[in-house]
Amino acid sequence: MTNQPNFALSPADDWMRQMLFLPPRASTFSADIDHLHYFVIGTTMLVATGIFLAAMLLYVKYQRKPGVPRREVPHHPPMWFELSIIVVPLSLFLLWFFMGFRTFIQMETPPADSMDVYVMAKKWMWKFAYQGGPNAINTLRVPAGRDVRLLMTSRDVIHSFYVPELRVKQDVVPGRTSQLWFNANRLGTYDIFCTEYCGTGHSTMRGRIEVMDPAEFDTWVSAQRQGIALRQDMGGPVDPDELGAITMVQLGKKVASDQECFKCHTIDGSAHIGPTWLGLYHRNERLTNGTEILVDEAYLTKSMMDPMADIVMGYAPVMPTYQGKITAPQTAAIVEYIKSLEDDRIAQAPNPGPAYEPINTLR
Ligand code: CUA
Repeated sequence: MTNQPNFALSPADDWMRQMLFLPPRASTFSADIDHLHYFVIGTTMLVATGIFLAAMLLYVKYQRKPGVPRREVPHHPPMWFELSIIVVPLSLFLLWFFMGFRTFIQMETPPADSMDVYVMAKKWMWKFAYQGGPNAINTLRVPAGRDVRLLMTSRDVIHSFYVPELRVKQDVVPGRTSQLWFNANRLGTYDIFCTEYCGTGHSTMRGRIEVMDPAEFDTWVSAQRQGIALRQDMGGPVDPDELGAITMVQLGKKVASDQECFKCHTIDGSAHIGPTWLGLYHRNERLTNGTEILVDEAYLTKSMMDPMADIVMGYAPVMPTYQGKITAPQTAAIVEYIKSLEDDRIAQAPNPGPAYEPINTLR
């Protein structure tokens, strides 16, 4: 067993947590988010109490007394009072913004070596696929203490992935890849909720995340992969839509060939009707609109779903859309296949690194 971090909260911390009905903490983000939450709730309560007390005071002080004639309003409220009505809420808002900004940037920037899991949402279930297999429905197993990145897409409508204990929530959008990362540091099983209304089954769209001991997780993954290899050796049925039945790279190659991607894209580095896939991943490409982008999972997915959006300079806009033609898992598999086509010539050359690192690239 790993050494479980000490989860004993200070009495004040735990009291606040229970007052606000917050679940236990199970990720490295949890404490920061809770503390910001306490601060926001605390300051608003304080200000609200101040306003209430002032109102009571004025009510008593300026109450009309019997026998005393009604007076005109004695004088205009002082300038500082009127200003404070604007300045106090504004400065509170800015304070919260800057307090939360650091955590936000951290949550938006997955570490480069995080373990990727593909997530596909559909009415009304969650599908998970690991890069070398296996796949799973509604149960996501992750190792404790390791950075995990979820690359999420939806097959139908917008869903949203939410695990209260991890304090993470992210929309899952059809035709796009959205990312989310976390480091779960507390063993246990937690609920995954869908938090975007997605139809009559929305409330039943629940999954479980199992945070496992890292050693047990590794054993589980390799046992699953051996099972997959065995099924392949025995020539068992392989459902092309079934993530993990073969590795994602193998599946991606098959889907690309079925969809005739190779009529336009080569994998040997030579240019054809479209850009070559060799070394495409993490290459900087200049677009016809003059901007430069870093090819990542999100760009590759977008290119398949909405090919007219960002055309690489020097190529004609002739690619058809694959929205609706290939499923989300197949899209993810093609992305994995492209990622596997590393260009040795680039790998051996001294790496100048990307020209810039857009904040959204998250690598
Ligand atoms: Cu999926 Cu609500």
